[in-house]
Amino acid sequence: MSGSVNVSFVGCGGMAAHYLGVYRDLDWVRVMSCVDTNLESARTAAEMAGGVATLDFAAALDADVDAVIISTPNSLHRSQAVSAIEAGKHVLLQKPVAANLADAEAIAAAAAQSTRTVGLYMSYFDQPLVHDLRDMVSEGWLGDLVHCYARLMHKGGMMWSEEALKGNRTWRGSVEETGGGCFIQLAVHYIHIFEWISGSSVVRATGFTRNLHCPGLEGEDLAVAVLQLDSGAMVTLDTAWCANGEELSVHGTLGRFSYRNSQRLALASSAGPFEGRVARYSGGLTPAFGGPQGEEQQMEICPPAFNDISNPLNQHRAFLEAVREGKPAPVSIASGVDDMRVVAAVYESARSGRAVEVG
Ligand SMILES: NC(=O)c1ccc[n+]([C@@H]2O[C@H](COP(=O)([O-])OP(=O)(O)OC[C@H]3O[C@@H](n4cnc5c(N)ncnc54)[C@H](O)[C@@H]3O)[C@@H](O)[C@H]2O)c1
Repeated sequence: MSGSVNVSFVGCGGMAAHYLGVYRDLDWVRVMSCVDTNLESARTAAEMAGGVATLDFAAALDADVDAVIISTPNSLHRSQAVSAIEAGKHVLLQKPVAANLADAEAIAAAAAQSTRTVGLYMSYFDQPLVHDLRDMVSEGWLGDLVHCYARLMHKGGMMWSEEALKGNRTWRGSVEETGGGCFIQLAVHYIHIFEWISGSSVVRATGFTRNLHCPGLEGEDLAVAVLQLDSGAMVTLDTAWCANGEELSVHGTLGRFSYRNSQRLALASSAGPFEGRVARYSGGLTPAFGGPQGEEQQMEICPPAFNDISNPLNQHRAFLEAVREGKPAPVSIASGVDDMRVVAAVYESARSGRAVEVG
């Protein structure tokens, strides 16, 4: 299609609020409706981005709507995404694809039948640094990949738990509505990133889950997973709803990449300089056990804002451009289903106490 893209928002809560500005600020995009079961949230979104505020999901399927942006609780993704896809809409769906693997596969099956642009919103793909990391790996700058590590922890769970205990329960406290606890919500980002940068797939998973500090939530507030990639490299993922901290590290035979708290990047490689979109390394070697190793260099890197339309990697802008140009979405639903297979295996391992093969 050419010209403008008409959009409907389904789910106008916390996550949608972060990126409504993209739809307001792109002059070739028009918001037709903001749909939410909480009319106040729909109205707030419509005041910001335009369109009518409504409780009625049918508005998203109106003939004048081209694309539906779904940011509702995970358990609603299947019915809403499949309805929108079957109505011939382009669809951008929040991660995780769904609350369980069967629902995720049903969405992927509908997407596979569609000729429209149907994709998954993965916020970390907004970040130029993640694309630099992929280049580092594919150019061999880190050598052979040995180990990937991610920690994603924030104390939102303690707040939701406290509210639930006071009687203000939200979908985030329900296993049925989320599909689990902190792991399904947080780990999918990094499962996706590590498979994407390495071109490898997770083949085996071991997981441990606990609920230590969030009695108001049914799911876990701490999860630790050890994953094996088909290359033989290993991945460790730590997620929590009851502590704060973020880290993404990749170690290879020639170098290492380590990014902490979305701020501080440390790089070291004996492969020489690297010049990426935002990451820079000037080279240099220091003596070390086993031969010289790359000198560690540090820099501060801030991620772009969710609604920065000048960022060509902004996932909403990239999705809308793909719609306009008749191209596939930047992140496919099928790749999000692969993440869900790993999530399901980690939960099964946590239940059974055994390592689980990921098929
Ligand atoms: N990409 C990320 O980094 C990221 C971060 C947070 C959340 N998310 C995802 O975004 C989605 C929404 O999360 P959130 O944090 O915005 O939650 P939220 O609770 O803040 O917002 C969800 C909204 O959906 C509305 N809603 C509920 N049932 C509805 C229905 N039947 N029809 C229309 N609207 C309905 C609620 O009233 C609420 O306004 C989830 O899938 C979540 O996993 C992604």
